[in-house]
Amino acid sequence: MSTSKELDELRRLIKHHDHLYHVLDAPEIDDASYDALVRRLRQLEAYCADETPVDSPTQRVSGTARHDFVKITHRTPMLSLDNGFEVADIESFDQRLREALALSSSDPLISYSAEPKMDGLAISLLYQEGRLVRAATRGDGAVGEDVTAQVRTIAGLPGRLRGDSYPNEIDIRAEIYMTRQGLLELNQQMQQQGKRLFANPRNAAAGSIRQLDPQVTASRPLALVCHGVAYPQGTQAAAVCHSDWLNWLAEWGLPLSSERQLVRGAAGCLAYYQQLLDKRAGLPYEIDGVVYKVDRIQDQQRLGFSSRAPRWAVAHKFPAIEVVTEVEAIDIQVGRTGALTPVARLIPVAVAGVVVRNVTLHNFQELQRKDIRPGDDVVVRRAGDVIPEIVRLAAPAEPRQLLLTLPSHCPVCGAQVIQLEGEAAARCAGGLVCPAQRRETLQHFASREAMNIDGLGEKLIDQLLQAELVRDVADLYRLERAALLRLERMGEKSADNLLQAIERSKSVALDRFLYALAIREVGVATARQLARHFVALEPIMNASIAELRVIPDIGPVVAARIDAFFREAHNRAMIGRLLDAGVSCYWQQQPVTHQQRSQEGLAGKTVVLTGTLVSMTRQEARAQLELLGAKVTTSVSRTTAMVVAGSDPGSKYAQAQALGIPIVDEPALLQLLGGEKI
Ligand code: IVH
Repeated sequence: MSTSKELDELRRLIKHHDHLYHVLDAPEIDDASYDALVRRLRQLEAYCADETPVDSPTQRVSGTARHDFVKITHRTPMLSLDNGFEVADIESFDQRLREALALSSSDPLISYSAEPKMDGLAISLLYQEGRLVRAATRGDGAVGEDVTAQVRTIAGLPGRLRGDSYPNEIDIRAEIYMTRQGLLELNQQMQQQGKRLFANPRNAAAGSIRQLDPQVTASRPLALVCHGVAYPQGTQAAAVCHSDWLNWLAEWGLPLSSERQLVRGAAGCLAYYQQLLDKRAGLPYEIDGVVYKVDRIQDQQRLGFSSRAPRWAVAHKFPAIEVVTEVEAIDIQVGRTGALTPVARLIPVAVAGVVVRNVTLHNFQELQRKDIRPGDDVVVRRAGDVIPEIVRLAAPAEPRQLLLTLPSHCPVCGAQVIQLEGEAAARCAGGLVCPAQRRETLQHFASREAMNIDGLGEKLIDQLLQAELVRDVADLYRLERAALLRLERMGEKSADNLLQAIERSKSVALDRFLYALAIREVGVATARQLARHFVALEPIMNASIAELRVIPDIGPVVAARIDAFFREAHNRAMIGRLLDAGVSCYWQQQPVTHQQRSQEGLAGKTVVLTGTLVSMTRQEARAQLELLGAKVTTSVSRTTAMVVAGSDPGSKYAQAQALGIPIVDEPALLQLLGGEKI
C-alpha cells in the first residue's frame, strides 16, 4: 500500500473506531489495538512530506455528542492525554519538558502529580456557590451532553461542597467508573435479563450515564474520582500546585483517588508506574495506566496545550491483558431459564494470573458477529475480575470449520428452540422437562443466597437426577437415607450431613425462598423488596400486577414475570409440595444498625409525602413524623432528606428520582415510625 493510501485508510479506521467507542459505547477493538493504530498514524504523519490535515484524528479529541441529551458547550474544553508506553517515552517526555522550561541539569527534578488512569468515563462537574449545578460528558471535547440528573444519583458525589473555602464557581474534572465487583454484579443481572453484557468498566459507566431515565442510572453501581479542575479565568492564582487543588477538593468532600502521589523526575514516575502495576490486580477497580501531571501550575501554563492534549501531562499505559489461544470446540449450554449459550472451549491459557478454559459467547448473534469457529486462534482478554471474553478472531483455522448456528431443537432434551422477539437469547421450550434446566434450577435452589443447602453441589445434583431420586426441588425434601447411600461414593456421614442441611433449610427467610424459586428477573435485591413489602408468601402469590408495581424498583417487565410465575399451575403445585414437606418462610426486618440509625435519624430532616398510604392518612403520617422531629414539606428540593411514596405517587416521586433523593415505601416508613427510637 502506498503511504498516502495507508494514511487515508488509518484515518478512516480510527474515526470509525472513535465513533464506536465514544458515541455508540460499543468498541470493536481493545485499547491496545486502537493505540497501535494511532501510533502508526503519528509515525507516518511525522515522516510524510504532506501537511497533516486539521481533521486528522491526531489533531483533535475524538467523540461526538449524542443527540438525545441537551448539548453543553464546555467553557474550558475537555482535552485528551498523550500516551506513553515504554520507559523511553517517559524519559523523553521529562527531558522535553526540562528543555521547554529551560531547566539545566543542575536544576531540581520536576515534581509530578502521579495518579491512576481510571478506566471510566470523563465528566465535568460545575459547582456554583458550592452546589452541583451541572454535569456534562466530554462529547467531542468542546460540546458534551448534559447528564446532571444522571450524575446526581451517584453515591458519594456531594450535591453541596463542605466548608466555605471553595470558589464561587468551579469546574471539576472527574472520572466515573464502576468497581470490578459492581460490574460483575451488573453483568450477572444483564445476563439474567438476556441483555448484552458490558465488555469493560468504561462501557458500563458510559452506558449507565447515557440513560435518559436517571432511575436506571441510580440502580447502577457507579463511583467517581475527581482528578483536576479546569481553571476558569482569574481563579488559577488561588493554587500554586495541582496537588493543592486535589487536597482542597478532598477537603470540600469530593472523592479522590487514594493512590495519588507526588513524585520527582522520570525515575520517580517510573517507580510509581511499577508500584501501581504490581498493585493493579488487587485494586477493586480497573486502571489502564497512570497519569503524570506537572505539579506546578506556573510550569503548566508555560508548557501549554497542543490542540488535543496538555503538554504538561502524559498517560503511561499498562500493557493489555490479552493473550492468543486456540478454540478447541464450541458447545451449547442450556441454562436454568432454557437459554442456549454457545461456549468456547479453549486450549487453557493464563490471562492476568488466571487460567481460562471456557469462555461464553453469550448468544448466537454474538457468535456470528465475532465469527469464531473451532480451530481458530482467538484473542482472549481478562481485565481483573471481569468475565474473560473473546475479543476477536486472531487467525482463522485453515481450512475453516463451519460456523455453529442456532439449532432448531434443544441439544439436551430435543424440545423446540424458540427465539422471542426483542430477546438476545434463544430458549429451549422444554421447561422443567429438560434435564439441563432441571439441573440448573436445582443448583440455584441449593445455592448460598437461596436455600443454602450445604454439600448439595453440581456433581451430587447430577447423581440425584441420574438416579431419578429427584425431579424437582420439592423432591429434595423427600430424600431417604437408604436411597442416598446407594449412590456412588456416598458415605454415611455425607448422607447424614446432606439430610441435616436439607432439614435446616426448611426454615428459611422469605426473601431467600422467593429468590430460590428462580422467577425470571427476580434477583436477591428484588426478592428482598418483595419480602419487605408483602411480609408473607401468600399475598405475593396472589398479588396483581398493579399491587406489585407499588414497589418502586419493580417495573412492568418484572411485575409481569412474577405474575406469570405464580399464575402457572405447576409452579403453585410445586410450592404447595414444598410447604407440605415442612418448608416454612419467615420474615423479620433486618435489625437497624447503629450507622443506619444515625443516617436515618429523622430529627431536623425534611421529609415529603406523596401518594396514598394504606395504614394511615397523610395527616397522621405527618403528625407522627413531626413528633420525631422531622419537618414535613410539600415540595421536593435538594434539601429534602427523604420522600415517602405511597401508592400512585405524584410528580414528586419523579422529582426525587431526578435529584437522587432516597425514596422509601410505606412499610419502611412504618419501620421508621414504629421501630426503635431513632
Ligand atoms: S487528566 C487535560 N487524570 O483519561 C487532561 N485524566 O485519555 C485531562 N482519565 O479524558 C485528563 N484518569 O477522562 C486525567 N487521573 C486522571 C485520569 C484521566 C482517567 C481519563 C480522562 C481523559 C482520558 C484521556
